[in-house]
Amino acid sequence: MTGSRDARAGELSQLADAAAVCTACELADNRTNVVFGSGTVDAEVMFVGEGPGQREDEQGLPFVGPSGKLLEQLLGEIGLTRAGVYIGNVVKCRPPGNRDPRPDEIDACKGYLRTQLRLVDPKVVVTLGNFASKLLLRTGTGITRLRGQAYPWWGRHLVPTFHPAAALRGSARVLEELRYDFSLVKAVIDGEIDSEVPDEAAVVAAPPVPEPEQLDMFG
Ligand code: URA
Ligand code: SF4
Repeated sequence: MTGSRDARAGELSQLADAAAVCTACELADNRTNVVFGSGTVDAEVMFVGEGPGQREDEQGLPFVGPSGKLLEQLLGEIGLTRAGVYIGNVVKCRPPGNRDPRPDEIDACKGYLRTQLRLVDPKVVVTLGNFASKLLLRTGTGITRLRGQAYPWWGRHLVPTFHPAAALRGSARVLEELRYDFSLVKAVIDGEIDSEVPDEAAVVAAPPVPEPEQLDMFG
């Protein structure tokens, strides 16, 4: 990533200003606030959720509801804070009734996520849940099979894991697996995972291209 830290921070906040008035897809019609993302441009870890829920829509911030509480707890367990990471979503406006975002909505919105990834330039991207994981890894394979490893991804690592909401409504096992995946995140930032042999899915997911923005990372 080129560009000084301040330049990247400036670009990120300009992008947030642009998104705040975006009407590029129909999700603009029902939103209260655009939920662009939160955290620091210096983050080594960037989380990608699906889209804002009701609480997020009301406050204009990602992961401020019950899922966010669990996310913060898991972050704390690996020595991170909300302020020290970056948190975004695939779509920035709440789908009505929390339905899945539609392909045309994702298409309209994905430029924001792509630029967020370029500007934050994290060491590790963590996709939360099926939706973000399948999209960024370009796979139809579900999260239960994808999770549990760090994939080489566009010159960095990607750790797909369950959405925190799945742990809140699911079994203790889901929470344990989330914890395991967060331990992988820590291992990546501590430099303990840097030369693992990519498996087949990772090779498909991670063409060795240096400039993400020149090509399409997802979809
Ligand atoms: N779920 C998500 O996927 N994103 C949020 O921001 C909140 C809940
Ligand atoms: Fe714009 Fe994305 Fe909101 Fe659609 S979801 S209006 S593309 S910011």
